[in-house]
Amino acid sequence: MTSETAWPADRRITIRDLQAATDRGERWSMLTSYDALTAGVFEQAGVAALLVGDTSAEMVLGYHDTLPVTMDQLISMVQAVVRGTRTALVVADLPFGSYQSGPQAALANAVRHLKEGGAQAVKLEGGHRVLPQVEALTGAGIPVMGHLGLTPQSVNVLGGVRRVQGRGDAGEELLADARALERAGAFALVLESVPAELARRVSAALRIPTVGIGAGPHCDAQIMVWQDMAGLTTGRLPRFVKRYADTRPSCSTPPASTSPRSPPTSTPTKHTATPDRARQANPRRSRRTG
Ligand code: KIV
Repeated sequence: MTSETAWPADRRITIRDLQAATDRGERWSMLTSYDALTAGVFEQAGVAALLVGDTSAEMVLGYHDTLPVTMDQLISMVQAVVRGTRTALVVADLPFGSYQSGPQAALANAVRHLKEGGAQAVKLEGGHRVLPQVEALTGAGIPVMGHLGLTPQSVNVLGGVRRVQGRGDAGEELLADARALERAGAFALVLESVPAELARRVSAALRIPTVGIGAGPHCDAQIMVWQDMAGLTTGRLPRFVKRYADTRPSCSTPPASTSPRSPPTSTPTKHTATPDRARQANPRRSRRTG
């Protein structure tokens, strides 16, 4: 997931830098991050932009989907990611309930992400129904990243997580939404679980960068949830998840068995949290396609 682009070393990457890289035909990458330590590691690895996503509801807070995370919780994580980085562009997710009611709510919460969190941009989900929000934010000088395809905040309407159909009306609708978001001023667009051919059409139709997750190889950039990339998550993972490492086994050695002072135990005690117990408490996120 490293990028070939020589990003500025003495200041934060801006949305203009991302657009310029895209205009030059250079591919770049994003990861999610929710804390200072991983943010610094990913920045050093050349990741251009970090998303403090509402996936933190699942990855950090242990919820079953992305809906419960609040603005206050996200702002703490945004602050940490900003503190842990010097050059990465930090994008803060607008969580469920923070913008759906209209442009005023969207503006108030996006301002909080920039003012209190220190983010440089926000992301929200949806197409035509959020255009007034996107216009209000971009009109106020707040960079907005759109998000189409699988939009996990709508899980209760979608009746689960489904891959977007590429052909017919669904594909045309997504393309129209993408164009409308660009016209409304979005600086980039996440395409989640979209067929590769549709993502290719969208990427060709837009000047702004498309950022794919499960959307094939034709997007201008790629994003992953870092715990998926690092092999920490388990269960029914989406087909598109490419594991770049398998860190779960290394994290699964209980301290008791590595301490020279304690004899190794083969029977986990009541207080030994096993990965499987953690998984049972949160039997993998509902948002992903299988
Ligand atoms: O919240 C998130 O992490 C996201 C990415 C999966 C794109 O929206």
